[in-house]
Amino acid sequence: MTDGFVEGMPKAELHLHIEGTLEPELKFDLAARNGLELPYASVEEMRAAYDFDDLPSFLDVYYEGMSVLRTEQDFYDLASAYFRKARSQNVVYAEIFFDPQAHTSRGIPFETVVDGLRRAQADAGFRTQLIMCFLRDMSAESAMETLEQSLPFGDWIVGVGLDSDEKGNPPVKFAEVFARARREGYRLTMHCDVDQENSVAHIRQCLDEIRVERIDHGVNVLEDAALVEEVRRRGLGLTVCPISNSYVTNGFKEREVKAMLDANLRATINSDDPAYFPGYVNENLVAVQRAAALSRDEMTTLVRNAFTISWLDEDERGRYLDAVDEYVESATQ
Ligand code: ADE
Ligand code: ZN
Repeated sequence: MTDGFVEGMPKAELHLHIEGTLEPELKFDLAARNGLELPYASVEEMRAAYDFDDLPSFLDVYYEGMSVLRTEQDFYDLASAYFRKARSQNVVYAEIFFDPQAHTSRGIPFETVVDGLRRAQADAGFRTQLIMCFLRDMSAESAMETLEQSLPFGDWIVGVGLDSDEKGNPPVKFAEVFARARREGYRLTMHCDVDQENSVAHIRQCLDEIRVERIDHGVNVLEDAALVEEVRRRGLGLTVCPISNSYVTNGFKEREVKAMLDANLRATINSDDPAYFPGYVNENLVAVQRAAALSRDEMTTLVRNAFTISWLDEDERGRYLDAVDEYVESATQ
């Protein structure tokens, strides 16, 4: 099992916040272009200020960072940089989260964000789709307004998710918003961040009250045998982010990834916010492989799972899975 085997594989990424790909260098460029002063003298100083150790302290840095995103071109440049990086790591399909309320609340029009992302998608050179996330520490009314704002762009957005600070913001707070999103034709996912207060209860709400198709993170599912069985029975996907976990909780959660595979859960490996939790999808795959000594078959399963749980139609999914299988058969490493 070599790193090269994983790095060369055709891959899908399903848990990636586009605002979390804003690297310090681009932050400086965009600040200069928009005439903004940053409180850091250099890229090194900026990185040194990334001293988060849990979800809220990470989110403070994340939201502050995106203040440089102002124009359609800024969103284009942000997404284009991620797409170049993803391509260089053999990502052939990506579903990208974006946080419209983090921009509309600063006076940036919804369409400025979507137009920039959309134009970058057209130039990406591989297939991508957008997932709109609601900020769970804002009100359900604000989420509903955002859902309504999105409807004219509905053909460009495959699904909705829920992110930001989970403490005191359970899935059921957004039950009506997600019910409406389902009626409008959106696919449904939600973050259940790792080791949160009430993580297990939140995962249960996702299954019973929201009826999500996927859970973002969701590692704490393993604490409840009935939940594991239900997630397995429904074939729900889990989008795990090892390097992110090592920053906002502890460790890569590699034993949990292995346990998920052993339990036949559809676990996948993703990068979350790679500009802040350093490592794109390949680094995440390699980290978890080394930490848990995962086999070639287990790594192949993780990569196949991402296509299996992706929001693609059956033909496209089948073509990507065939490409993975061909790669594995012909790989010499
Ligand atoms: N927003 C961006 N990254 C996030 C994460 N890992 N959890 C919750 N909200 C987020
Ligand atoms: Zn996330």
